[in-house]
Amino acid sequence: MKHLIDPTDLSVQEIDDILDLALDIIDNKEKYSEVCKGKKLATLFFEPSTRTRLSFEAAMMELGGNVLGFSSADSSSATKGESVGDTVRVVSSYADIIAMRHPKEGAPMYASMVSGVPIINAGDGGHNHPTQTLTDLLTIKREKGRLGNYTIGLCGDLKFGRTVHSLIKALVRYEGVKFVLISPNELRVPDYIITEIFEKNNIEYKEVTSLEEVMPELDILYMTRVQKERFFNEADYVRLKDTYILDKSKMKLAKPDLSVLHPLPRVNEISTSIDEDPRACYFRQALNGKYVRMALIYTMLKDNGQI
Ligand code: CP
Repeated sequence: MKHLIDPTDLSVQEIDDILDLALDIIDNKEKYSEVCKGKKLATLFFEPSTRTRLSFEAAMMELGGNVLGFSSADSSSATKGESVGDTVRVVSSYADIIAMRHPKEGAPMYASMVSGVPIINAGDGGHNHPTQTLTDLLTIKREKGRLGNYTIGLCGDLKFGRTVHSLIKALVRYEGVKFVLISPNELRVPDYIITEIFEKNNIEYKEVTSLEEVMPELDILYMTRVQKERFFNEADYVRLKDTYILDKSKMKLAKPDLSVLHPLPRVNEISTSIDEDPRACYFRQALNGKYVRMALIYTMLKDNGQI
């Protein structure tokens, strides 16, 4: 049984195949409208979500399948003390594939050990978010026409931001990607990413605190929000939350073909005044999330012999 827990569970070839399939789905929606007929996706969301859960559900519906699930731990028997293991064991007897989000790092990995059907990690704590990474890669491919050979700035909460951790793991496997890590000192990327990923693989990177200073050199700017829900101390969150605000004055420093990505939700870190700038890709990125999840569900059900 093949699950998707970490972006590196997929080889570069498998990622490229999923992205190519997503592009074909975009161009030929009718061809895929019944490929998952009779199949069920369960969305087990123990933590809030708008894009990930609803795009998974829309994806399965557009493949002709059905969806079931819950959108918060409060509306499940987790509130009565049921374990993740028991929940997943039961739901895997109702559904053909499960997308699961949980605040505890490693919960989807544990679920994959007891599940009778494929598990997709839809975000676990500050750890990984592999389907956001597929979304980001499809967006980069569509906006830039390539997955390698550019300078990407990752800005904001690089400590708790799981989308950043997953994206770095995926992008270091492509040629010629240079990383600029822009964060306050308190929100730098975890040490394991520096030592185990950048340094071990001889990847070009630098850590800076000023966004203005590096704007002119970026081909892609990946903005993130400060992850309020992961802070232990409200005062620290309040002090750090507005460290970076991308606005028209900063966009004037950027290349004319910069691509601005953001996994969303946005709080204050991107001014709405740049939403109509053609370089702002984040709403197109959210739509790409539905197409890439269609490609992923279809691929995983096929690879596991369920369709
Ligand atoms: N990007 C993302 O994971 O958004 P949601 O939290 O709304 O699912």
